[in-house]
Amino acid sequence: MTDAPGITGLLNVFQMNKTAREAPHEFIDDLWQRFGDVAQVGVGPLTLIVLARAEHVKHVLVTERKKYIKGRSHDQLRTLLGNGLFTSEGEFWHRQRRLMAPTFTPAAVSQYIADVVAAVEEVLGDLDFEGTRQLDVQPIMTDIAMNIIMRTMFSSAATDEERIEALQPALAETLSHVSERTAAPVINLPTPANRRYRKHIATIDDFINRIIEERRSSDEQHDDLLGLLMQAREEGQGMTDAQLRDEVLITFFAGHETTAQALTFTLYLLAENPACQRRVRDEIGSVLYGGQPVTPETLDHLDYTQRVIKEALRLYPPVAMFARDAAEEDEIDGYTIPKGAMVMLSQWITHRHADYWSEPYAFNPDRWLPGRGEPRHPYAYFPFGSGQRTCLGKSFAEQEMLIVLALLMARCTFAPLTGFELNTEYGGTLRPADGMPLAVTRQ
Ligand code: HEM
Repeated sequence: MTDAPGITGLLNVFQMNKTAREAPHEFIDDLWQRFGDVAQVGVGPLTLIVLARAEHVKHVLVTERKKYIKGRSHDQLRTLLGNGLFTSEGEFWHRQRRLMAPTFTPAAVSQYIADVVAAVEEVLGDLDFEGTRQLDVQPIMTDIAMNIIMRTMFSSAATDEERIEALQPALAETLSHVSERTAAPVINLPTPANRRYRKHIATIDDFINRIIEERRSSDEQHDDLLGLLMQAREEGQGMTDAQLRDEVLITFFAGHETTAQALTFTLYLLAENPACQRRVRDEIGSVLYGGQPVTPETLDHLDYTQRVIKEALRLYPPVAMFARDAAEEDEIDGYTIPKGAMVMLSQWITHRHADYWSEPYAFNPDRWLPGRGEPRHPYAYFPFGSGQRTCLGKSFAEQEMLIVLALLMARCTFAPLTGFELNTEYGGTLRPADGMPLAVTRQ
């Protein structure tokens, strides 16, 4: 076994290199182009190993998953998300997953269709204009996704505007605090940034704990996500308030930022590809505008629109990379993976790997037609992760994105702005670095 090629001996490369901090997906992409499918970086005392192949995804997440834990690579997230589903491990994680899984099956999430439609309509109602306007669609998609998760999670409490106004900056700032420090050790010094972070966490906790308390002290049953999580039982045992808080928070964070960015990039790709946009609009028109309501069955008929979303998640995966710690020494393609190394899988790279995709950089929704043979490996596409820890909210997200696109396409067309060049950055999710201004025309 030998060490993987790469950059070693560089102290704190992440602190020194602007690309590594602001666009780490581009940094590891560059590493891949220069050193190949297994590449390593020495970040101070830490060894980071970037793995590019679909076979590696299967190795780390499935076949050898016991050797790869969330471990230290998730310490920063734990300061915000506690010991919830995303960050916990072992039997504790397993029990929480069993408790929560029934709430997120395709059948279970379809009961939220009406809430999702209402949440989208509310935001779109604020955008009543005639003709064409230049609009940054990124904050609009964030508003929509936030509105959806608030309504589906907390139903009526989500309309308490005073509470929500205090909550939104706290959510945004805690997420960016954690994302900026992903690979750094947790240091609890009372710096101004850390004090602000603690204050924001207290605001979030207060919001969630008050709702849980109100519900515990009333007999009223709620059929929103929080209600279902509060009713979930295994052998008669439900979740403690502390567990509920952690699970609500992870659902909240995982559930709105990711879909907001996915929708933003989908609109960008449709604006850049007017023929695809027309096909989407025609399909939605033929399935829904004959007065058909949005139901699981009508959504199921939106084949082309589903392929567009799949392809957008391939080219611009909101989770563009994630890490595991090697709990023991391992070997991949003849290279040593030292115990304690941080192993990085990257959708950004694997989704663009020419071994698995024809014309990997082209936007081609029809590559997903059955019989086209793509991807050429079952683990080459993993926008929602893979194996045991696959995204719990996958069906929720897929349904939500379809509904938002269907309602948007009914009202607006999207066109690119001359001179706009897309740059991406990464901070917990992949995002456009300078917003997403598009020419939006109301129908
Ligand atoms: C386009 C939207 C989304 C994307 C791309 C996405 C992506 C992911 C990925 C890649 C993971 C695995 C991370 C890992 O293995 O380390 C994950 C886990 C998770 N996601 Fe999502 N997600 C999305 C939407 C959602 C939504 C809407 C929810 C909830 C309503 C959600 C809840 C979760 C949870 C709870 C986990 C942790 C699962 C576990 O460890 O057992 N996600 N997601």
